[in-house]
Amino acid sequence: MRVLMTGGYGCIGSWVAKQLIDHSQDVWILDLKEDTHRLDLLLDADQKERVHFVPGDVSDPDVVRGAVERVGATHLLHLAGLQTPTCRANPILGAKVNVIGTLAVFEAAVALKGQVERVVYASSAAVHGPPEADATGPVADEVRLAPLTHYGAFKVCNELNAKVYWLDQGVTSVGLRPWTVYGVGRDFGMTSEPTKAIKAVAAGRPYRISYGGLQDLQYVGDVAATFLRALTAPFEGADAFNVRGAVVPIETFVATLREVAPRSAELVTHGDRQLPIAPDLDDTRLDARLGPLPRTSLQDGILETFRRFASLHEEGRLDLSDLS
Ligand SMILES: NC(=O)c1ccc[n+]([C@@H]2O[C@H](COP(=O)([O-])OP(=O)(O)OC[C@H]3O[C@@H](n4cnc5c(N)ncnc54)[C@H](O)[C@@H]3O)[C@@H](O)[C@H]2O)c1
Repeated sequence: MRVLMTGGYGCIGSWVAKQLIDHSQDVWILDLKEDTHRLDLLLDADQKERVHFVPGDVSDPDVVRGAVERVGATHLLHLAGLQTPTCRANPILGAKVNVIGTLAVFEAAVALKGQVERVVYASSAAVHGPPEADATGPVADEVRLAPLTHYGAFKVCNELNAKVYWLDQGVTSVGLRPWTVYGVGRDFGMTSEPTKAIKAVAAGRPYRISYGGLQDLQYVGDVAATFLRALTAPFEGADAFNVRGAVVPIETFVATLREVAPRSAELVTHGDRQLPIAPDLDDTRLDARLGPLPRTSLQDGILETFRRFASLHEEGRLDLSDLS
């Protein structure tokens, strides 16, 4: 398996890179620039030698195809994307990167059919809008998708296009729909605030999580491992799956953080606005197709993240610029 990751210098990509290297694999990253600030938190200098930078814009189909061909990639992990606030501010750019970029990855897979075995791509829980008023229990994968953001609408579009590439061209693909990914390296995006709260406590700073309500908190190491499973598990066809972590009210997150770091009692507050995405998602189908999946408890995920941030702080290496 030779993996080319688009957007691989992002939070999830950096953790996937770490796990591939832990399995003695090299990895190729197609990204806009060689920004290793997240990888630097996870890998030592020798390990970073195994990460190969391929400069390029994912929304340019010729660039993507050329990169896939040159690298000889057999598996494409497509993570490049603009997040909710950027898509809201600039929907045309959002569509260019998130929709055209995804088409470019699939077009490369079609053009290099004998070489590329599979596409795995990041969809998002944002394909779901708020739960129906009369909904009971977790929301399944295959419900009517009614996102309330451009970002969510672009992700729905990508899932539908992935199905068409299977029907028309036989390209196998797996789409995964994370919710709030948390852990070291999560420094950007609408749902990065729980991670920022952990970081603030490690640095002894106050932090207010601007929203509240029910959350699905997914430890980044588990999410990366699930993407890896999607790359390697036997699979044929095109499907997209909910991903589920710890579904808890924000109060439980804050209370668990307090158990890990008692001083957070004076430092962390939160709002009460529920984010407009169904918070309670059913991942039974994902577990049946790709499981058993790793499930780090909320307590362990927060503890691991806090410890890493605290030791980086002690070393004077904790970047706090995302807290302001
Ligand atoms: N982090 C989450 O909680 C979460 C939840 C749901 C879905 N997702 C999806 O997972 C994927 C990865 O998320 P993340 O948190 O690692 O994102 P991130 O914002 O940390 O990283 C995105 C990466 O994409 C790159 N990129 C942006 N535009 C590009 C372009 N035109 N060409 C090439 N590269 C480009 C960026 O440079 C960055 O390295 C995204 O598609 C995101 O929508 C993330």
